[in-house]
Amino acid sequence: MGSYESTKETIRSVADIVEVIGQFVQLRKAGQNYIGLCPFHTEKEPSFTVSPSKQMFHCFGCKKGGDIFAFWMEYHGTTFPETIKELAERYNVPLLEGASSAEEKKKAEFRKALFKVNEQACRFYQEVLLEETGGKPGRAYLERRSLSFSIINKFRLGYAPDSWDSLTSFLGKDPRKLKIASEAGLLVERKGGGYYDRFRNRVIFPILNLRGQVVGFGGRVLDAALPKYLNTPESPIFHKGALLYGLNHAFDAIRKAGRTVVVEGYMDVLALHDHEIVETVATLGTALTDAHVRKLKGYASEAVVVFDSDEAGKKAALKSLPLFLNEGLSGKAVVLPGNHDPDSFVNTEGASSLRDLIRKAGSLFDFHVDMSLSVMDGSIEAKSIAINEVLPVLRRLHDVSQQSLYVRRLSERIGVKEDVLWMELKNLGRDGAGGSDKLSLSERLAKPAVEKRFSRDIHFLNLLIHYPEAAQALRNLPWQVLLSDAQVIEIGELFFQNYDSGRLSSMEDLAPNLESEKAREQLREGLLLPSFYSDQTVDLAIQEFERKIRQIQLSRSIQKAREQGDLESMNRLLKEKAEGIGQSAGH
Ligand code: UTP
Ligand code: MN
Repeated sequence: MGSYESTKETIRSVADIVEVIGQFVQLRKAGQNYIGLCPFHTEKEPSFTVSPSKQMFHCFGCKKGGDIFAFWMEYHGTTFPETIKELAERYNVPLLEGASSAEEKKKAEFRKALFKVNEQACRFYQEVLLEETGGKPGRAYLERRSLSFSIINKFRLGYAPDSWDSLTSFLGKDPRKLKIASEAGLLVERKGGGYYDRFRNRVIFPILNLRGQVVGFGGRVLDAALPKYLNTPESPIFHKGALLYGLNHAFDAIRKAGRTVVVEGYMDVLALHDHEIVETVATLGTALTDAHVRKLKGYASEAVVVFDSDEAGKKAALKSLPLFLNEGLSGKAVVLPGNHDPDSFVNTEGASSLRDLIRKAGSLFDFHVDMSLSVMDGSIEAKSIAINEVLPVLRRLHDVSQQSLYVRRLSERIGVKEDVLWMELKNLGRDGAGGSDKLSLSERLAKPAVEKRFSRDIHFLNLLIHYPEAAQALRNLPWQVLLSDAQVIEIGELFFQNYDSGRLSSMEDLAPNLESEKAREQLREGLLLPSFYSDQTVDLAIQEFERKIRQIQLSRSIQKAREQGDLESMNRLLKEKAEGIGQSAGH
């Protein structure tokens, strides 16, 4: 009996995997399955596949896959017990306690405690902000920044008083709890023992994940002191690299509009949401990463980057271009006039002006070319700068057809012939170190052989999946000699064991009993491929497999006879083998 088996079963019966995954990945129907861009690795062509009939997903690119629970854990970074609990709540399924490993339990308990203390701290800061005198400095600051009360409430903003121990004493005396609070980054341990508050005299911006849990905090000073923002350090529940501030409130709007607006700062997100541009999110003081873009492309087909008008902002916008290109998400750029950032712009010029700019935003690529050309407008020097700055970006594109498209556009923009650009591009490729994602010649030469060797494995698996009755003919033969892939052999052995004992209901049911994740991967791929055989050809295929097994057996015996110098047997076997080949030619 596995862990949480009955709760798992009930969830499976009410939650459809296409619906669950479809909330986070844009899926479209392709035959019997659904496909989309994988949220777990960089890709522009969909290899992420969800099968409604088998209630499983699998990515042919990165090989991640499994059932609804596996998806949830991978996507949200949750433990198994958390996953069960969250899905049970979401689908109103009673949660029956199940056994999980001691280690898993411990991890889940720890994360739960971190979430809990964060929630308590969040409420504490919120309450302080509302205190008549204690919250005054924070309220005055937020008022000066023109934030409405409803946004302050919605984003659960707070205030950390100017004191070393207000949160510490609020949390009480339990040393375990204080320890947890320090692991959550709320308290800092004193050298001589004891703790003090990390956030003091700062406006507090709680950071929530997609499921509304408080994972960390940002705190801003009220004056010009440094550092301007203090953030929660990395913790088991806080990973800056993939988090987007405001996503929990922007999620529905992004999906509805098919578009997201990406800004740089906490204040920008708040100001734009306050002006009802609610598909806005921000990174947490880090550059945009592929993990951010990968998430967003699951909800939107277009991202409009509204960066600050300063040099750093422009640089950040430029840097994000290859990310968008490689993830297949259309990226656009808004350049704000003057010294504005999105917050100051929307507060002085109004929401409709910003909406206009967002609507008219040009592609990040054009922005890139413009920026490069603006250095010395139209001159030969400007062109060569454009070439030198834009081509390296294009070289990083994995997709050749997209590369051609942009080479053509660059050629049109700067009036340099396409051939010349291609030549430059090729030259870059030669001395650049970036060739690592391409296969070396020897690897490429080796590849077809490998594929051929394994193609028999794939055919064999395909036969067993779609025509399990083939087992009848093959079960007493040493079919293993056909195969090169240890995983397929593992699957085959488990299959025949179950077949012989009459326990096999379907191939999918084998998955939990396979030893290795590699074998489960292989089985998922097998299950998702259509049948190579038809009712008309299957018998012939089985005969062909039987014949090949015998041939391989014969070859091995010949080899043995040769080694033992048994010429008589060798000749007899060679003859037999030749007849076998002749036989198949007659088919
Ligand atoms: P900005 O300096 O542009 O701040 O940094 P801002 O959001 O416009 O804030 P205001 O308007 O001056 O109040 C952009 C983002 O970079 C991170 C924060 O996430 C901030 O929102 N940052 C900035 C830090 O983490 N630490 C800092 O010291 C400064
Ligand atoms: Mn700002």
